[in-house]
Amino acid sequence: MKFFIDTANIDEIKEANALGVLAGVTTNPSLVAKENVSFHDRLKEITQEVTKGSVSAEVVSEDVDGMMKEAEELIKIAPNITIKVPMTLEGLKACKQLTDKGVTTNVTLVFSANQALLAARAGATYVSPFLGRLDDIGQNGMNLIAEIAEIFDRHAIDTQIIAASVRHPMHVTEAAINGAHIATIPFKVIQQLVKHPLTDQGIEKFLADWEKANQE
Ligand code: E4P
Repeated sequence: MKFFIDTANIDEIKEANALGVLAGVTTNPSLVAKENVSFHDRLKEITQEVTKGSVSAEVVSEDVDGMMKEAEELIKIAPNITIKVPMTLEGLKACKQLTDKGVTTNVTLVFSANQALLAARAGATYVSPFLGRLDDIGQNGMNLIAEIAEIFDRHAIDTQIIAASVRHPMHVTEAAINGAHIATIPFKVIQQLVKHPLTDQGIEKFLADWEKANQE
């Protein structure tokens, strides 16, 4: 499983990239709205200064023509822009048209296996099932990842599953076990993945022993 970062914050993206683990970036309108910057300028910064990996940019139109117009402008920014479309009838049409043009797509707001299968058949490069939001309403987000992975495997579908709406480190481990190809993770959770109390204690002990030995 690969790691994407789920943010539009340039400092977080740069910091995660410096760790050497970053394969791509996902953004959404809520994440961009928090940043108070021009969306296109931010996408330029990310694609020119940080990563050649997939950078998902979401359209906000609700009809296929509007989505296609937005997508045309977004793909001019860089070749690694992936167009994120919502899992709707119009979003599927846009997914199909973009795929036919050779544009990579990420079908977002996926909450059922049928939605994922439809998106895949419309040519989606990626589908994004939202784990945390399903957990929030008392459904099991991880079961959805497992179901989609099984269906894609059984039918030799090469659309990649992005585990999205990741809230904590266990989501990451379980998404990997259940067959997600990618997890898109908020910066805070990436930091949590690194931490282990025994690592911290180990470092403390090594340093204390080192200082003691050098004082003797
Ligand atoms: C995925 O691409 C979305 O940006 C994201 O994971 C949504 O997560 P949230 O449910 O924490 O907003």
